[in-house]
Amino acid sequence: MSGDELSRREFLDRTVIAGAGLAATGGLGSVAKKRLVMVGTGGRGTSMWGTDVAKTYSDYVEFVGLCDSNRKRVEVAKQIIGVNCPTYTDFDRMIRETRPDTVIVTTRDSAHDEYIVRALELGCDVITEKPMTTDEVKCQKVIDAEKKYGRPIIVGFNARYSAIAEKTREYLASGVLGPITSVDFHWYLDTQHGADYFRRWHAYRRNSGSLWVHKATHHFDLINWAMDAEPVEVNAFGDLRRYGKSNKFRGVNCRTCPHKADCKFHWDITKNPTAMKLYVGCESEDGYLRDACLFREDIDIWDTMTANVRYNNGAIMSYSLNAFMPYEGYSMSFNGINGRLDIRAYDRQPWPVTSNAEFRLSLNFGRSELVEVRVSEGGHMGADPKLKDMIFKPGVPDPLRQRAGSRAGAMSLLTGVAAVRSIERGTPIRIADLVKF
Ligand SMILES: NC(=O)c1ccc[n+]([C@@H]2O[C@H](COP(=O)([O-])OP(=O)(O)OC[C@H]3O[C@@H](n4cnc5c(N)ncnc54)[C@H](O)[C@@H]3O)[C@@H](O)[C@H]2O)c1
Repeated sequence: MSGDELSRREFLDRTVIAGAGLAATGGLGSVAKKRLVMVGTGGRGTSMWGTDVAKTYSDYVEFVGLCDSNRKRVEVAKQIIGVNCPTYTDFDRMIRETRPDTVIVTTRDSAHDEYIVRALELGCDVITEKPMTTDEVKCQKVIDAEKKYGRPIIVGFNARYSAIAEKTREYLASGVLGPITSVDFHWYLDTQHGADYFRRWHAYRRNSGSLWVHKATHHFDLINWAMDAEPVEVNAFGDLRRYGKSNKFRGVNCRTCPHKADCKFHWDITKNPTAMKLYVGCESEDGYLRDACLFREDIDIWDTMTANVRYNNGAIMSYSLNAFMPYEGYSMSFNGINGRLDIRAYDRQPWPVTSNAEFRLSLNFGRSELVEVRVSEGGHMGADPKLKDMIFKPGVPDPLRQRAGSRAGAMSLLTGVAAVRSIERGTPIRIADLVKF
C-alpha cells in the first residue's frame, strides 16, 4: 500500500476515532487526548519524553505505541515509562495498528530523517529531538517532505527554554546594544560529560554528524534565535587530540579493559542500574556497548573545534567547542554598536556556585551592571519542563518565540554541517550551497 493510500484511509479512521473520543469526553468543548507514539526508546526517549510526559501530561496525551530497532530495549523502556501500550520493532506496523496523531522521534541522530519523513507521509505530526538530522542531503529530504505533506515538525530545542537563554533573548530584543556586530561563544565539556560522547554511537560522523552537529546544533540555534538571524557562511578547524587514536593504550570497553587501574576515564557501568537495564541487558540484540573505549582507533569525530560564522544581520561569530575540559559551562558575549553583553555560566566547581550565571551589561561611555539569573528546577536547568509545557499543554503563550520548527532545525544543524565540510575541504562553506528552501 502506498503512503498516500494509507494516509487517506487513516484520515477516515481517525475521524471516526476523534468522533468517538468527543462522545466519550462529553462532546464539543472537551478535548480528546492526543495519541502519541515514540520511535527510539533509549535514554532520552524514556526520561525526557517518556516517564515524565506519561505522568505530567496525562490530561492531554497518551502513549499508544513504542518502537525501537532493539527488541529488548523497547520492552525495558515500556517498564521504565510505566505504560501499557504495545511495542514494536516495525515502525510502519506501529503506525498502522495504533493510528497516532503525533510521532516523537528520539532515535540516534542519523535515523531521525527516515522516521520524520515516513511519519509525515503517513499523516502524523512530528516532534523530533535535536539535531533534526545529520547532513545536508537528509536535511533537504526533511524540508521537502514537510512541504509536500503539509504537516508540522517541532524540533525539541530545550536550550532555548533555560532562564539564561530567555534573559539573553530579552536583552538582545530590547535593542539596548544597538546592531550586533560580533559574538564570542565558547563551550566547554568536561572529562566526564565530554568523554561520554566518545564512548557512545556519537563517536562516529555517520551516526551523529560529529559534535559539530550533535552538540553544537544547540549552540548555533541559541545564537540564531537570540539574534533573530540566520547563518550565511562558515569556516572551521577541528582536531582529535585527547580521545580516539590519540591515547597510548586502549581496550574494547570499560568492563573488560586490562587498563582499568591506569585509565582516568574508566567508567563502571555496573554501578548504574538504569544503564545496566537499558543498555547492557540489551547488548545481545545489536552488540551496542554503552561503555565502549574512548580510545577506539576508528573514532572519527573531533574533540577540539573552532569556527567563524557570518550571519545575515551582519554579525560575525567566533565559536569553539572543547570536549575534555576540567569543568563544564560556557562563555558567550554579544558585542554591539552601543556596548557588550557578557554571559558566563559554569556548571561545576572551581567557579563559585552562588550565582548560576553571570550577566553583565556594559554600555560604551556608560554604566556596567551585573544581573543575576537563577535557574529553575528540572532537567537541563529547568528548560525541559518548559519545553514540554509549550508542546503538550494547549494555549501556552509564546512571547519569546521559543517554539522551533524545521527552519530553525535546519539552520542550526547546517551551521554544523558547514563546519564539517569546511574542515574536510579546507575552505569556507556557504549555507545556501548546502540546501534549497
Ligand atoms: N535535547 C537534549 O538535551 C538531548 C539530550 C540527550 C539526547 N538527545 C537526543 O535524543 C536522541 C536519543 O539520544 P539518547 O541519548 O537517548 O541515545 P540512546 O542511545 O540512549 O537511544 C537511542 C535509541 O535509538 C534506537 N535506534 C537507533 N537506531 C534506530 C533505528 N534506525 N530505528 C529505531 N530505533 C533506533 C536505539 O536502539 C536506542 O534505543 C538523539 O537524537 C540525541 O541527540 C537530546
